[in-house]
Amino acid sequence: MASNSRSWLTPQPSLVGKQQVALLQQAAMLLHTGGRTVRRRRRLWFVLAALALLTAGALLLSRRAAEPRYVLVIDAGSSGTRMYAYTWREGLGGGGATPLLAGVPSSAAPHKVPRRAMPSKRAYQRVETEPGLDHFKDDAEGLQAQALGPLLEWAEAVVPRRQWAQTPVFLFGTAGLRKLSERQQDVLLAGVRGVLQRSAFRFLPAWARIISGTDEGVYGWVALNYLEGTLRAGSDTLGALDLGGSSLEVTFAADSVPWREDAVNSTVLGAVHQLYSHVHHHYGLNDAFDRSVTMLLARQLASGSVEGDTPGSGSAVGAEQQQEQQQGAHRGLLAEVLEEVQHPCLHDGFRQVSDYEACQQLALAVVDASVPCSATPCALGTPQPSTVGHRFVALTGFFVVYRFFRLPHNASVATLEEVGAVAVCSRWVDAKACLGN
Ligand SMILES: *[C@@H]1O[C@H](CO)[C@@H](O)[C@H](O)[C@H]1NC(C)=O
Ligand SMILES: *[C@@H]1O[C@H](CO)[C@@H](O)[C@H](O)[C@H]1NC(C)=O
Repeated sequence: MASNSRSWLTPQPSLVGKQQVALLQQAAMLLHTGGRTVRRRRRLWFVLAALALLTAGALLLSRRAAEPRYVLVIDAGSSGTRMYAYTWREGLGGGGATPLLAGVPSSAAPHKVPRRAMPSKRAYQRVETEPGLDHFKDDAEGLQAQALGPLLEWAEAVVPRRQWAQTPVFLFGTAGLRKLSERQQDVLLAGVRGVLQRSAFRFLPAWARIISGTDEGVYGWVALNYLEGTLRAGSDTLGALDLGGSSLEVTFAADSVPWREDAVNSTVLGAVHQLYSHVHHHYGLNDAFDRSVTMLLARQLASGSVEGDTPGSGSAVGAEQQQEQQQGAHRGLLAEVLEEVQHPCLHDGFRQVSDYEACQQLALAVVDASVPCSATPCALGTPQPSTVGHRFVALTGFFVVYRFFRLPHNASVATLEEVGAVAVCSRWVDAKACLGN
């Protein structure tokens, strides 16, 4: 999907592209002036909320300015570091109206887009340096020269010089930085703060931080509701189902969330939203598929249909226990054993054993809907407030799947199942038998 940085000001269909959501999550970090109110983080939250309020206030006070204000957000992900520049204008209709945020396209200063990101056309749409910031944990010079410097140069080219000093720059670290030790995080953030403090832009130390998975879920929710125009007072907000590579995040407004760790009071543009937000780890597309392969291997090894000494297969089962620590190695092993395993959902390039019913059963086993729960209602083994009366929007991974099957955004789950079954069985000689009827 094109980055379409302008189009996200207009209402969108209810499935939103990954890139748009990523952009909007950055914007949401700005709109979002509250934070998690989990007990141990209360003081930190208060400080952040106060700072963010001051920032938003300062930004919103520019009512009479003819020019838009600019805001810079650096997204420090695991594979790369990206710079997003936004213009921020007062909303029409005066006080309290939702501000108009628009992303500045990378093409606003094409000569300053870091070269690393240029070879592929898709990457060109992002102002990005690689590798991720965690690679610079012991390399202060690289942090400046390779990771952040080029991004700041692009920003200097797109923000008018007279606005540099008033333009705030934020940095939010996600999964790549979360996996560093606390000490490494501190050292790295200190380095980052040094670089941003010396930049031409406005920066305060609290503006560079590492956010939690739950924060990401909440920002995704803010972004979605900003995009759909449902942040206005009196509107019912939409719930967000965000399917990533490794986790599934569920966030929606709920009057009461008895489980504190999933309760978030989020203040957006002055209105408090009580949210339930939960990260279901390992339910992302890649992790779930990996688990299906591991399960099959264990079964097929037990039944003797796969040789125990098949290269990689034995170690892949062992690798299951160490999945967290060895994601990379695990993935390599999986690629190796995929050749050997008989996967009922695959037909292309692997053993032709497609069997839709078996595929469905495998999917159910992977999702493991039978996990007991201490409370009801319950979702994937976790208590969850009732979803009755809520509307949800399925994002990212769901969008990828719908786009793959060329389904319209409002296609039902039943339709998705039908096209899925046909796809699983399409190469089978006896497609009817494969479909199980
Ligand atoms: C959120 O705010 C409501 C209403 O003020 C309060 O009852 C609730 O305990 C708050 N939740 C959290 C997690 O702080
Ligand atoms: C889906 O949306 C299209 C228009 O975008 C509409 O014509 C169609 O009837 C809708 N289908 C369903 C199942 O709601």
